Amino acid sequence: MSRFGSDPRAFFDFVYSDIPPWDIGGPQPAMSALLAGYPPMNPILDVGCGSGDLAISLAQLGLQVTGIDFVEAAITQARAKAGLLPAEVAHLLDFQVADALQPSLLRRQFGSVVDSGFLHLLESEECDRFVEDLALTLLPGGRYYLLAFAVEFPMPNLPRQVTAQELRARFTVEKGWNIQDIRPAEFLSRVAPPLPAIAACIERLPGQI
Ligand SMILES: C[S@@+](CC[C@H](N)C(=O)[O-])C[C@H]1O[C@@H](n2cnc3c(N)ncnc32)[C@H](O)[C@@H]1O
Repeated sequence: MSRFGSDPRAFFDFVYSDIPPWDIGGPQPAMSALLAGYPPMNPILDVGCGSGDLAISLAQLGLQVTGIDFVEAAITQARAKAGLLPAEVAHLLDFQVADALQPSLLRRQFGSVVDSGFLHLLESEECDRFVEDLALTLLPGGRYYLLAFAVEFPMPNLPRQVTAQELRARFTVEKGWNIQDIRPAEFLSRVAPPLPAIAACIERLPGQI
């Protein structure tokens, strides 16, 4: 069972009936800083894109971004924001209702996958399956950018802690990964002081299938 009950989508649908706590009106600064240090390769996939601010910030840099989220209201908001952008930026964006657990179902490969608050929603087994699917989704030499909570709260319906140790165990050279950076970060929200987070940039080694 997920940390968000037997029907996580219903949980997230409900959260989007108001402004979600993570919707800070722009991308998470720690994710933007990570991307600035390790420039992403086109095309980009934003898993669990929410209302689209990270994807939009990347399109404003001239990058081509597909954002996916399983909440229809989030995608409707993201598309509405994109509709207000200059046409040359809007045409770089594509927002779709889709399951981010299996990005390979999009039947495309991406140069970069950005994950601002998605992996930390998943239990260990779901993470295993997501990372396997991520390997199929990234082009050789492509990069996965992660921002996740680095704290554990003893409460239901909250993300879990992701540690550097976990990332080193999941993303090994033997499995075709090269960790380029793991760093302490902050996760901002509308409802609480900045929370300790972890950010990482992980490369899919060339020569992998
Ligand atoms: C913590 S929010 C982060 C949203 C956005 N990335 C941001 O930084 O503001 C996590 C997002 O993942 C979405 N999500 C959770 N599980 C999902 C799944 N299996 N497939 C697609 N989206 C999912 C939620 O609807 C939510 O929008």
